[in-house]
Amino acid sequence: MKQAEPISKDRVPFNYNLVLIGFMGAGKSTVSDYFHTQFGMEVIEMDQIIAEREDMSISDIFETRGEEYFRDCETALLIEMQARKNVIISCGGGVPMRERNVAEMKKNGRVILLSVEPETVLTRLEDDHSRPLLENNKNVDFVRALMEKRRDKYEAAADIIVRTDHRSVQEICEEILSKLRAMDGESE
Ligand code: S3P
Repeated sequence: MKQAEPISKDRVPFNYNLVLIGFMGAGKSTVSDYFHTQFGMEVIEMDQIIAEREDMSISDIFETRGEEYFRDCETALLIEMQARKNVIISCGGGVPMRERNVAEMKKNGRVILLSVEPETVLTRLEDDHSRPLLENNKNVDFVRALMEKRRDKYEAAADIIVRTDHRSVQEICEEILSKLRAMDGESE
């Protein structure tokens, strides 16, 4: 397979934030890591930051403080990120469900929706136990139903949409870059 040209960190090709949205298991963290490696972009992994600040796992936050509290943490973090430039924000899967959150992401970021099929989610997260919404719900019917419930909001929030099933992270990121360039009017 063709290898990506290593790009030096001072050539980050955009001056806005990249905001990755999509269902659990869509590949947001993997894509973020790739952009970090290629461009030295700082990764804002929302779940990780919230868990660190609250000093407990996402599952424990859901259990002891409730989902609404967690959702408020997400909104606060997104607002905080408005002061940042050139970071890549890996959003938790539920973030675009709040209208306010979508407005915040769009202030200085391009929103990239990573799409994924339910079967792929289940394969990718087979051994994962960190997502409270999926614990005891790891079946195609549940995942498909939750995805369908979220689809309109995901798509409305997105500036670009990139499919991730059966593709390498390099292919996915090349498509993201080319769509961003097209959006920025720098067509090659
Ligand atoms: C959630 C997705 C998770 C995490 C939490 C809730 C959701 O993040 O924020 O478990 O509502 O879809 P990932 O999308 O990074 O798995």
